[in-house]
Amino acid sequence: MAVEALDLHVERGEVLGLLGPNGAGKTTTVRLLSALIAPSSGSALVNGYSVVDDAQDVRRSTGILTETPGLYDKHTAVENLELFARLYGVEHRQRAIARELQRVGLWERRGEPVGQLSKGMRQRLALARALLPDPPVLFLDEPTSGLDPENARNVRRIIGELQARGRTIILCTHNLDEAERLCSRIAILKRRLMTSGTVSELRGSGRRNVVRLQIAELPEGIERELGREAFVHDVECVDQRTLDVKLAEPRRDKPLLVARLVGLGVRVQLMSDFQPSLEDVYLSVVGDAQAASSSEAAE
Ligand SMILES: Nc1ncnc2c1ncn2[C@@H]1O[C@H](COP(=O)(O)OP(=O)(O)OP(=O)(O)O)[C@@H](O)[C@H]1O
Ligand SMILES: [Mg+2]
Repeated sequence: MAVEALDLHVERGEVLGLLGPNGAGKTTTVRLLSALIAPSSGSALVNGYSVVDDAQDVRRSTGILTETPGLYDKHTAVENLELFARLYGVEHRQRAIARELQRVGLWERRGEPVGQLSKGMRQRLALARALLPDPPVLFLDEPTSGLDPENARNVRRIIGELQARGRTIILCTHNLDEAERLCSRIAILKRRLMTSGTVSELRGSGRRNVVRLQIAELPEGIERELGREAFVHDVECVDQRTLDVKLAEPRRDKPLLVARLVGLGVRVQLMSDFQPSLEDVYLSVVGDAQAASSSEAAE
């Protein structure tokens, strides 16, 4: 089974980021939720429609940008959008097509056969196609991957505008900075839902009680020395000058730690509460899963 145990509720107007390693099931999830494929078990409601029983209504009220856009190469950009607009009964077709082509920066290339466009351009055209019926729910599977920086920024701006207009967006991405900037909530997937929350909730949940020390020069064996202290739960040398120490009770233990370091002749330049980045949280969630699944395999 590609994905299991995915209990998730997405509010109207939310941008939900789906993160997870290659093969985690992000694409499978958005294909299930947009009723492109049927689940082998379980169900989901999208816009109040069941992906199992009302697949047609789900498809009509959602837009999806997939990894493989499936455009007609011999037809021009405009013709591709016209075909799709007819299929979806888009009103004021010509005006809507012009608006979307301009939005993704392809208006000048509208008359060219799609086969002649670059990969990034085809991806932007596929985004224009997904936006054409102005659906209330949009699934965007890695919309900025492979785009040049300027076009990637434009696509992020488009996503921001869609959210401002109350559209609900599920965004699969490997770009954590993008996720942090755009998503009101994040779900980390690895065949199942590992965790979810706002960026600040996730950053707050990871590696509690860790202080980060900047040190002039890390002496040999410092990890072992500190590890002996009862108030120290974990020690990690991040690099030559940075040490992360997990304390039992930071308010109580910070002065003890400083005293111990001074006793060891360590020159502490800075001590701060460690605030993990989204990347730190992601890596620890996904890494823990790897450790867990390899120990399961060993059993
Ligand atoms: N059509 C399919 N039939 C069978 N298995 C599939 C199919 N498509 C994907 N899978 C499997 O489902 C799992 C999840 O794949 P999926 O494409 O959803 O991952 P993903 O999170 O989107 O990864 P990526 O970051 O690489 O895009 C993978 O193990 C994949 O091999
Ligand atoms: Mg994918």
